[in-house]
Amino acid sequence: MSRIGHLILFSFVYAIYRLITHEWVPQVDVELTKEEKAGLPGKRWKPGTPFPKDFIPCYDPGTLEMLGPDMPADTADQVRVKIERARIAQKKWAKSSFKQRRLLIKTIQRFVLENQDTICKVSARDSGKPLVDAAFGEVIVTLEKCKWLIKEGEKWLKPEKRSSGLMMFYKNARVEYHPVGVMGAIVPWNYPFHNVFNPLLANVFAGNALVVKVSEYASWSSLYYGRAIKACLAAVGAPEDLVQIVHGYGEAGNALVTGGTDKVVFVGSTGVGRAVMKAAADTLTPVVLELGGKDPFIVLEDASLSQCVPMALRGAFQSCGQNCAGAERFYVHEKIHDEFVKRVMKAANQLRQGWALSPGVDCGAMCMPNQAAYVQSLVDDAVAKGAVVECGGAIDKDAPGQFYPPTVLTNVTHAMKIMKEEVFGPVLSIVKIRSDDEAVALANECDFGLGSNVFGSRRRALKVGAQLNAGMTTINDFCATYMAQSLPFGGVKESGFDRFAGIEGLRGCCNVKSVVVDGIPGIRTDIPPPLQYPVQHCAFPFCKALCHMFFGLNILENARGLFMLVSAMMIPTPKVLLKGGKTD
Ligand SMILES: *[C@@H]1O[C@H](CO)[C@@H](O)[C@H](O)[C@H]1NC(C)=O
Repeated sequence: MSRIGHLILFSFVYAIYRLITHEWVPQVDVELTKEEKAGLPGKRWKPGTPFPKDFIPCYDPGTLEMLGPDMPADTADQVRVKIERARIAQKKWAKSSFKQRRLLIKTIQRFVLENQDTICKVSARDSGKPLVDAAFGEVIVTLEKCKWLIKEGEKWLKPEKRSSGLMMFYKNARVEYHPVGVMGAIVPWNYPFHNVFNPLLANVFAGNALVVKVSEYASWSSLYYGRAIKACLAAVGAPEDLVQIVHGYGEAGNALVTGGTDKVVFVGSTGVGRAVMKAAADTLTPVVLELGGKDPFIVLEDASLSQCVPMALRGAFQSCGQNCAGAERFYVHEKIHDEFVKRVMKAANQLRQGWALSPGVDCGAMCMPNQAAYVQSLVDDAVAKGAVVECGGAIDKDAPGQFYPPTVLTNVTHAMKIMKEEVFGPVLSIVKIRSDDEAVALANECDFGLGSNVFGSRRRALKVGAQLNAGMTTINDFCATYMAQSLPFGGVKESGFDRFAGIEGLRGCCNVKSVVVDGIPGIRTDIPPPLQYPVQHCAFPFCKALCHMFFGLNILENARGLFMLVSAMMIPTPKVLLKGGKTD
């Protein structure tokens, strides 16, 4: 048979094998209710209305239409009840096998695959982002995470052998990964689906329960997502209380941190992150803080513009810039600066902004009520200090929702606030650089250090990337580290500390427990007789000799230690030892 013939035969056999070994995965059907589909016709959110204390208003930021009745905000007591329910469920779930946990992840994967439309539409209405932005940030990354956990999750949570040290050469040392118990998560509004499913997947796989507080700016979608979670849990026989969703404000968030969770992941602003850490100090609840970012996007003089310009646009305008790892500072080498700007403008001028669900929309709305005004203040400050507005730059007063237009600024410098504060809006700010060193210096001149992106020839870009003080660096791509779900996500400086996602994030869901056990059958450990209580007179010389024997820097030293050991044991025991330390 020819080589091609072999290949076809092999593929055929492999396909049959995959079909036969395919595991049945439950299908979960969850629909939007009639009320959720209809919303509250004719009712609109009045911009500028303060949020009530006990209720959370739900509206579409692109049309200001009310999506449903105000949701009750959880009180501290209600949050504590949810934590308690989760704890009871976790006790059962902790005993589940990895096989069971994988089936749960596969069930979720199937649900996501088959319900992409509804998942993305619900996210679009709640957070204002168009369907393609939802496909990127809600669905694809969630599916990658499912796939990674199914493939590698168990491998990274199995007990791991470690070296047992010189004196205990005959023992086995290992690390075991036990679930921490009830994980708390406080997540932001920018990706209402993924931000819930990201901690959910890792924690249920690790054997934890999860109590997750969603943002008051995107609570409506969690009704549908929450029903889907319960249905997936039920479909595989997992306790339905394993995942609890909390709605509310600061009081609910505080109760989540102090109300009995075993660990908390906070994703949000640096200011609130500080408050979370302070609250967690009282109960010594460990916290993972994933705070803001202000990622640099460096274009070296030998970068390929046809490759990096579309990435620059996606980096700045994906989800209208409302990303923790969004590109916010563009450093472009002077030799290609003008061409870069020209190409960016060609696309930027054609961007269509509007309601997330109207056809052909590139950019949606701002999710937070006051965000557009905040972005405007940063743009105004930049313009006052010499920035040039190439497009956008002003709120359209007649827009039907919370919009800020896609904006490109050139002639930007570090004297402007827009290079210091997190924008979280659709602004592509370009700074001209003269050398790689200048790019590194400017990129590092920032309070944040989350992601970073460098474009250029491979070696040169890697060299620049290695000098960036950030938690993540992508070379010749934008934020691609998050597509490799084996990699941790997190930052340095004011971007927070510790990591979620990846091996580190998965193990972060665990109590990392050290275990030592005898390694050779028949050999057990006894304290050497001279060291047993009451210690013998030779005990200290015996210890000294052991140190020489084991830790001597050459074999003569080791031999000397052995000789010392024998001599020590021959030291005669004096008759009586008095408290004062003198022999009688
Ligand atoms: C760029 O900014 C500088 C100040 O930083 C200003 O003097 C200059 O006029 C600006 N250039 C343009 C083209 O506006």
